[in-house]
Amino acid sequence: MSERIQAVRGMNDILPDQAQWWERFEDTVRDWLHAYGYRNIRMPVLERTDLFVRSIGEVTDIVEKEMYTFIDQMNGESLTLRPEGTASCVRAAIEHNLLYNGAQRLCYTGPMFRHERPQKGRYRQFHQVGVEALGYAGPDIDAEQIVMCARLWRTLGIGDVALELNTLGDSAARARFRERLINYFEQHAEVLDADAKRRLHSNPMRILDSKNPQMQALIAGAPRMLDDIDDVSRAHFEGVQALLQAADVPYTLNTRLVRGLDYYNRTVFEWVTGSLGAQGTVCAGGRYDGLVEQIGGKPAPACGFAMGVERLLELMQHAQPDAPRVADVYLVHQGTAAARFAFAIAENLRNDGFSVVLDCSGASFKSQMKKADGSGAKFAVIIGDDEAAAQQLTVKPLRGNGEQVRCALAQAVDLIRGQ
Ligand code: HAM
Repeated sequence: MSERIQAVRGMNDILPDQAQWWERFEDTVRDWLHAYGYRNIRMPVLERTDLFVRSIGEVTDIVEKEMYTFIDQMNGESLTLRPEGTASCVRAAIEHNLLYNGAQRLCYTGPMFRHERPQKGRYRQFHQVGVEALGYAGPDIDAEQIVMCARLWRTLGIGDVALELNTLGDSAARARFRERLINYFEQHAEVLDADAKRRLHSNPMRILDSKNPQMQALIAGAPRMLDDIDDVSRAHFEGVQALLQAADVPYTLNTRLVRGLDYYNRTVFEWVTGSLGAQGTVCAGGRYDGLVEQIGGKPAPACGFAMGVERLLELMQHAQPDAPRVADVYLVHQGTAAARFAFAIAENLRNDGFSVVLDCSGASFKSQMKKADGSGAKFAVIIGDDEAAAQQLTVKPLRGNGEQVRCALAQAVDLIRGQ
C-alpha cells in the first residue's frame, strides 16, 4: 500500500455527521440574512496580496505572520488566500460599480485562511458568514447589525454570548489617541515586551490587546480612547447605544476593544462567549468609513461584521437537540427483475418528493434489511421478483410497530406520506 496522504494541519474535513449541522446552520442563516435585506455575493478565495496589506494594515498579526502568500509561478504576481472577507467584498463592490446606484447590503459565506497555531476553535482554514453594509453613514445600520446578531443567537438557541462595544472615533481622534498612547508607553518602556516595543510607533493601539500578564497593569492604566473622541463620533456612538437600549440588547462598554484589523473607525463590537475556552469571540465587526476610498473607490461609509461558523456551531450543537436528517425510504430489492423495477420505483418515489436510498450493495436480503434499519429511514420498501411481477411493493414501517403492507405505488405513496 502507498503511504497515506493526510489533510494539511489546521484544515479540517467536515464529515457527513457534522455536515448536517452545517446545513441546518446555513439554512437558518440564509433566512435570517434575507429578513434583513442582505444579498449574497461570492468572491474568489485568492486575491492580490496588496489588497490585504493595504486594508488590514501592514503592522497587524494577520499581515505580519498569518497570511498564506505565494508567488504565482506563471507571472510572478504575489497572491494571498483571503484571511477575511471584508477587503474582497469591498474590492468587488468597487470593481463592479455596485455603489453607483447607492448603498448595498451584501453578505458572503465561505472559507478564510490564517496561518495561526491550531487549537480548539482556531483553525487555519475556518469559515465565516460576513455582512457588509456599504454606503450607509448613520448609527441605525450599526445598531441594526448588532440587533440582527442578537436575533440569530435567539433563533439558534444560543444564550451565553455577551456584546462588547466601543468607539474608535474618526481618524483625527485616533491620531490624537495614538500620540497619547505612545507617550504613555514610552514612559514605561521597561515594562513593554518585545512585541509591544516593535509596535510602539507603528501600531500602539494593538498593545492594548496584548495578553501578556506582565503588561496588564500597565495597560489598565493607559489613556482611554473615549476621552479623545470627536463630537460627531460621540453623537454617532450615542445614537447606536440609544437604538440598542430601545431594542433591549444589553452590552458592555469595553474601552480596550480596538480590533486586530486597521480599517475600523467609530463603532466596533465583539460577541463573546465563556463557553468555548480561549477562543471565545464568535462574531466581530464595526464601522470602516475609510476603506472604500483606501482601496480605490469613491469615498463611502460602511459597517459590517463576520462570525466564526465553527465556533457558533459548537454552541449551537450544545443548545439544540440532535435531529439527524434521514431518508424517507430505504429501498431493498432481490432478484434481476426486482432490481430493474426497484430502480424505476425509486425515481417514482422521488417524483413524489420523497428522499430515497436505493440499496446498491448487491448484498443478501438480510444484510440489506439490516442496512435499512441502520439508515434511520422511516420506511423500508421491499421489492422481490414476486412484487416486480405484480408491479407492487411491500412497505414496512421501520419505526413504531406498524404492519407491513403490500400494495401498488399510489397506495404506497399515501402510506409513506402518512395518510
Ligand atoms: P475577525 O475578528 O478577524 O474579523 O474575524 C471574525 C470572526 O471570525 C472571529 O470573531 C472568529 O469568530 C472567527 N475567526 C477568526 N479567526 C479564526 C480562526 N483562525 N479559526 C476560527 N475562527 C476564526 C474579520 O474577519 C472582519 N472581516 C470582520 C468584519 C466584517 N468587520 C467588518 N466587516
